[in-house]
Amino acid sequence: MARLAFIGGTGPEGTGLATRFAKSGHAIYIGSRSEERAAETVAKIHEAVPGADLYGGPNWDGALKADFVFVTVPASAHAELLTELAEAIEDKIVVDTVVPMSFEGDDGPVAAMPEAGSAAEEAASLLPDAKVISAFHHLDAGQLQRVDRPMQGDVIVCGDDEPGKKKVMSLVEEINYVRSLDGGQLRNSRYSEQLTVLLVHINKIYKAHTGIRVTGV
Ligand SMILES: NC(=O)c1ccc[n+]([C@@H]2O[C@H](COP(=O)([O-])OP(=O)(O)OC[C@H]3O[C@@H](n4cnc5c(N)ncnc54)[C@H](OP(=O)(O)O)[C@@H]3O)[C@@H](O)[C@H]2O)c1
Repeated sequence: MARLAFIGGTGPEGTGLATRFAKSGHAIYIGSRSEERAAETVAKIHEAVPGADLYGGPNWDGALKADFVFVTVPASAHAELLTELAEAIEDKIVVDTVVPMSFEGDDGPVAAMPEAGSAAEEAASLLPDAKVISAFHHLDAGQLQRVDRPMQGDVIVCGDDEPGKKKVMSLVEEINYVRSLDGGQLRNSRYSEQLTVLLVHINKIYKAHTGIRVTGV
C-alpha cells in the first residue's frame, strides 16, 4: 500500500479521491492551509471508511512524506503552491487533477490556457525533478465522495515518465468500474483538461454529473 497526499485535500476533488483510495487501503494524508479543515476532512472520510489509515495537516508535510502527491487545488492557486512545495516534492510522482478555467458572466466557464500549455505542463516546469502525471479530470468529485455507489467512466492519464504513468494508471483502476486510458505525453493533458470545461456545460444543460467513456479500445 502506498502513501497518498492530497494538496488541498479539503475540497470536493481531493476529498472524493482520498475517500476512494482510503477504501482501497492506502495511507491517506489530507493537506490544507488549515489544521482545522484538514482534521474535519479526516473525520469525514473516517465516517465513510471506518478504520482507514488517515492523517491531515499542512500541505508541505504531505508533500514531503508521500509516495504520490495529488494536486487538488483551484487553478488560481496551482503555480504559487507548487513553487512553495517544490523542495518537499523533489522527485516524487505528482498526480495533477487541475482544470484551468475561468467564468465570464452567466455563460459558464471557459478554458484558460496557462502559458506552459496546460496545468500539468505548468507543474512539470515548476517541479523539474518530479514525475508529473495528469489524471482524474473527468470523474465528478461529488460522485467520488459517494463511496457507497459505484463510479463509472474513463480516466485519461498523460505523462512523460512511463513507469510513473503506469503506476497512476493502476491506481485509477482500484476504483471499481473505472478504467484508465493512456493519453500519451504530458503535453496531451491540455485536451483532457479542456474537455472538462465542456462537461461542466453539459452538466448544466442536463442537470447531470457527466463523465466520459471512450469506445473502440
Ligand atoms: N470538482 C470536480 O468535480 C473536479 C473534477 C475534476 C477536476 N477537478 C479539479 O480539481 C481541483 C480541485 O477542485 P475542487 O472542486 O476540490 O476545488 P476547491 O474546493 O475550490 O479547492 C480545493 C482546496 O484547495 C485549497 N485552496 C483553495 N485556494 C487555495 C489557495 N489560494 N492556496 C492554497 N490552497 C488553496 C482549499 O483547501 P484549504 O483551504 O483547506 O487549504 C480548498 O479546499 C481543481 O483544479 C479542479 O479543476 C475538479
